[in-house]
Amino acid sequence: MLIAPSLLSADFSRLAEEVQDVEQGGADLLHLDVMDGQFVPNLTFGAPVIKALRPCTKLPFDAHLMTCRPELYFDALEAAGVQMISFHAEAAVHHDRLIHDIQDRGIQAGLALNPGTPLAMAEELLPILDFVLIMSVNPGFGGQKFIAYTLDKIRKLRRMAEEAGRPDLQIEVDGGVSSDNVHALKEAGADVLVAGSSVFGKSDRKAAIEALRC
Ligand code: DX5
Ligand code: ZN
Repeated sequence: MLIAPSLLSADFSRLAEEVQDVEQGGADLLHLDVMDGQFVPNLTFGAPVIKALRPCTKLPFDAHLMTCRPELYFDALEAAGVQMISFHAEAAVHHDRLIHDIQDRGIQAGLALNPGTPLAMAEELLPILDFVLIMSVNPGFGGQKFIAYTLDKIRKLRRMAEEAGRPDLQIEVDGGVSSDNVHALKEAGADVLVAGSSVFGKSDRKAAIEALRC
């Protein structure tokens, strides 16, 4: 299981130090929530901030695009040095084209699904996707309560991936992840856990990351 602290809950006045703190604490990836104030009712940061952080850490960068027209950001994110990009199925039209556009840059491509969006949106794409990001809160803000019905969705997706001949498909879960639900998430078939407030909200980040491993 990989742990991906989400920078959204970090102290924005000390970003480089915050990133280095979770790297030393044993994080596997750095999750970067890019919001445009349109797809979700919040604004965060974009490629210039991500690029500025690139020399500060060796952690792979996992960019989660909560934006309309996600394809507008691929060039800049590639130049910023990200290793993974997910975009929302609800925000795009030509999903197959966008996945290939990301992968042609040597970047892993993921499809993100809101809690209420059916897995059918990902089904035909399972043979080509690197990962699926299951939102376990409504996107836009950190610190929200985990939506319990998404556990069933993760189990179903794991079965669908097996049936599609993709036992290697990574399932990333984002929102409300804490030590209270990591066992259930692991049992359901999650591989990558995004954790904002349950890591950056704690003073000892190493202990917080260890508490999410099971
Ligand atoms: C929410 C973001 C998440 C967020 C998770 O829209 O996509 O990545 O940072 O924060 P927590 O872990 O606090 O729910
Ligand atoms: Zn996210």
